[in-house]
Amino acid sequence: MASALKLEFVMSAPRLADLPPTAAEVALAGRSNVGKSSLLNALASARKLATVSSKPGSTKLLNFFVTPQGTSLVDLPGYGYASTASARMREAWLRRTERYLLQREGLRLVLLLVDGEIGPTSLDQEVIAWLRDHGVPFQIVATKHDKVKASKRDRRKRDLPAACGVAPSEVIWVSAERNVGIDRLRELVRETLSA
Ligand code: GTP
Ligand code: MG
Repeated sequence: MASALKLEFVMSAPRLADLPPTAAEVALAGRSNVGKSSLLNALASARKLATVSSKPGSTKLLNFFVTPQGTSLVDLPGYGYASTASARMREAWLRRTERYLLQREGLRLVLLLVDGEIGPTSLDQEVIAWLRDHGVPFQIVATKHDKVKASKRDRRKRDLPAACGVAPSEVIWVSAERNVGIDRLRELVRETLSA
């Protein structure tokens, strides 16, 4: 079993320029309420490291966490909510995070979280296309595996990757609630940060 990531909260930064430098970094991105903060807590085996919200869109800042090795994780602001899809919303999110995604020195990988229960929204698909177009390395992570009914799992494990434009084997399925896929993701984060 991969042990928990040692993470310490450092600061919430409004903009890229406010973030401390890092040797290597992994970012968590996804729409509001997809489970970014919950996943970060699961990776660290901590309950309250990152704030889990009942109200969507509460993380409006770049939340910066460090490891003992001087590498880091960033919890990015969520974009949109549920099925909301609009170019304007994507633009608003990009205005806040584009500079980070394109210019952050040390950024190795973006974990792009997609809600496993509802699949990618059109906004998710637009963000995936944007990351691809700009050559930003990303890994699709499907969240809330526990909320997908057993009868729908097989089909969802084909449909969700297809809608994201990747192979089924390329998606990591997780449940922060039930500790599904967390070890695998910890290993990926460790490898990525130490490479
Ligand atoms: P913002 O910060 O608003 O962008 O949201 P977020 O992406 O950080 O989501 P957050 O972790 O705050 O979780 C949103 C809601 O989903 C909370 O009510 C969580 O308890 C719930 N949730 C997160 N992960 C899971 C999961 O694996 N399973 C289930 N059932 N619920 C989850
Ligand atoms: Mg959050």
